[in-house]
Amino acid sequence: MRQKTCGEFWMRKTFGVLSLVLLFVSSLFAAEGLERPDVERWVDALLKQMTLEEKVGQLVQYSAGNATGPASEHLSFQELIAKGQLGSLLNVTGATETNALQRIAMEQSRLKIPLLFGLDVIHGYKTIFPVPLGMASTWDPQLVEQASRIAAQEASADGIRWTFSPMVDIARDARWGRIVEGAGEDPYLGQIMAAAYVHGYQGSSLSNHDSLAACAKHLAGYGAAEGGRDYNAADISERTLRQIYLPPFRSAVDSGAATVMSAFNPLNSVPASANPMTLSEILRHEWGFPGFVVSDWNAVAELIPQGVANDPATAAQKAILAGVDMDMESGLYRRSLVELVRSGSVPESVVDEAVRRVLRVKFALDLFDHPYVPAATPAPMLDATHVELARKVAEQSLVLLRNEELHGAPLLPISSNLRTIALLGPFADSASDMLGSWPGKGDAATVVTLKSALMQRMQKTGGQLLYAKGTDIDGTSDRGFQESVIAAQQSDLVVIALGESAASMTGEAASRAYLDLPGNQQKFLETIVAIGKPVVLVLFTGRPLALPWAAAHVSAIVEAWYPGIQAGPALARTLFGDVNFTGKLPVSVPRSVGQEPLYYNPPKPGRPAGNTDLSHPPRGEAEKYVSRYIDEQNSPLFPFGYGLSYTHFAYSAIKVSTASINVRTMNDKSDAIAVSATVTNNGARTGQEVVELYLGQRGTSVNLPMKELKGFKLLSLAPGQSQRVEFKVGYEELAFWNIEMRYLVEPAQVTVWIAPDSVEGPSAQFTITK
Ligand code: NOJ
Repeated sequence: MRQKTCGEFWMRKTFGVLSLVLLFVSSLFAAEGLERPDVERWVDALLKQMTLEEKVGQLVQYSAGNATGPASEHLSFQELIAKGQLGSLLNVTGATETNALQRIAMEQSRLKIPLLFGLDVIHGYKTIFPVPLGMASTWDPQLVEQASRIAAQEASADGIRWTFSPMVDIARDARWGRIVEGAGEDPYLGQIMAAAYVHGYQGSSLSNHDSLAACAKHLAGYGAAEGGRDYNAADISERTLRQIYLPPFRSAVDSGAATVMSAFNPLNSVPASANPMTLSEILRHEWGFPGFVVSDWNAVAELIPQGVANDPATAAQKAILAGVDMDMESGLYRRSLVELVRSGSVPESVVDEAVRRVLRVKFALDLFDHPYVPAATPAPMLDATHVELARKVAEQSLVLLRNEELHGAPLLPISSNLRTIALLGPFADSASDMLGSWPGKGDAATVVTLKSALMQRMQKTGGQLLYAKGTDIDGTSDRGFQESVIAAQQSDLVVIALGESAASMTGEAASRAYLDLPGNQQKFLETIVAIGKPVVLVLFTGRPLALPWAAAHVSAIVEAWYPGIQAGPALARTLFGDVNFTGKLPVSVPRSVGQEPLYYNPPKPGRPAGNTDLSHPPRGEAEKYVSRYIDEQNSPLFPFGYGLSYTHFAYSAIKVSTASINVRTMNDKSDAIAVSATVTNNGARTGQEVVELYLGQRGTSVNLPMKELKGFKLLSLAPGQSQRVEFKVGYEELAFWNIEMRYLVEPAQVTVWIAPDSVEGPSAQFTITK
């Protein structure tokens, strides 16, 4: 008893001195990364004060609000916090709620280590921006960074200092419901977007109280679920993993992402949340990641159904030894880790390392000094500047897929002289769908729908808007068709808003086996088109849908994804031409579900279809023995990188600074080739063009994709204006994982494209010599 009191006294004294040091350390922190010698010394000292139970506590996270996965244990969090046995909570929001729990940690727990509150702030907190697939369609990292900054400001004012975003999983299969949460199919675009989110959330320093720690998820291969079925196995060669799936994670880590989430899925037969290769060898040792890894929801316990652990203790042991530092929601670390260490099954040094990583992030966030949300802070929620940015991002996320001429002019933009417009379809006035999946704390009441925006507009111009829902999103009833038919007949133009339910058909656990319009919507579309009025189809979807009929029969098609709270104004302004369309597809749009997985950059087949006419079954041997379907074309309905504008951009021939370059100088990174082209706006309106750089290599030791995106630039050009665009092609753009799994540049014939999308555009060649 005497001994214990004495120990406590010294502990308190040491801790008091440590707190003073901490003040100094955290003031220095702003300019630095997570790992600093003085912080490490401080953590060392703190670790020495911690009991094993307190250490394990730092590695435990539970959900205390709305569950975002299958419910697990029901516990008294207050008691755990007071004992120092809980490090983090997710799904608790609000200054009052988070402060109340934090007070227990700061006032009742022995070591006063603050809690870290996390939430899925995916595309906004209160001000909801377009879903991430829409954000990626802007091809504008600055906008994405600004939107994420706003999300961080709003969420942090409600006590959240950690977001489970960005999701950087490459998704090549539109059946996967979570394709909506990422930047699409391409690793380069994925890298750029990953960095933009991290910079936005984390701001200039994690220690700023309006910063959120970012979390790059889900490591690894989660988006490659076989058949697009969520949580399913992924089988990915190491080369493809490194070349395609890992670069966005690397980009997030290099941008300073404080945390990473391990995935649910088996990756090459090893569960991702017990995979030492990705979590330790690559992430920690190769990339030097100093932050911590949190498991996905209950993923530690799911090692049991995955068959690599027969009991909870083994599951916890495998996860922590592989590199999962914090256990989200399963409770297995809480229940087993202390005993695993005591029995020698897990070295205490492994637990110490995990705790160190968690403490580093808590220090970096300045939580020790400022654990509470100041009640006096004016809440920045839905500030006018935030809403304005939400509209701008939404405008730029819209992709114009088709705009046919009617009576000698493209159908869009809609002329302000039109007297009567019919607005039809289940998405025209569905506020909640506009918020998309993971709507943060978004409120449908803050959404301006397409109906209210168009209504306002028509009232201003003295026109008339006839609205009818027509059909439900799902189901077979056509009882509402007649009202819509009458509205269409009475109108000069029809805008029809169709798609997928954001909440139940997209996002987690919402994979689809069919990629058509759900329910009766296709029938509804055909009924309305048959009336013969000009039709504009606006699609609200979380994935590219296979709509070949619409692409052949509907004059104008806009892919709107889920545009967020400013859906209506953004759409009204682009449809009427106040602003131009600038968005481009971050995914390939299929013709049919049988083409999936469909992506623009697969390895080259030995029997390419080339110029074969694929619109009919093969005729003769030359058409038969090629890589093709007998009943479908190979090409997408709309390719990756594609999007129309109200103006037209012409691309000149490409200039290459030199015809050949030496492989050695390339690998020294001491040289690069300049490739350039001139882009001219030869239409009648100002427009913004995403100019895309693609590369293809031949003669290399492994089969590289025919084309890979390696750069892009956004140009804004007035009518008649031209601009020269130059890209540097060097080591970064040309290196790949070769036959010996070495990352380098090899001698090759290189083709470059400076192009409006992944199919069109001029090309040029150069050689990388031996
Ligand atoms: C499960 C999801 O897979 C993950 O992305 C999310 O961050 C967690 N649940 C927490 O809600």
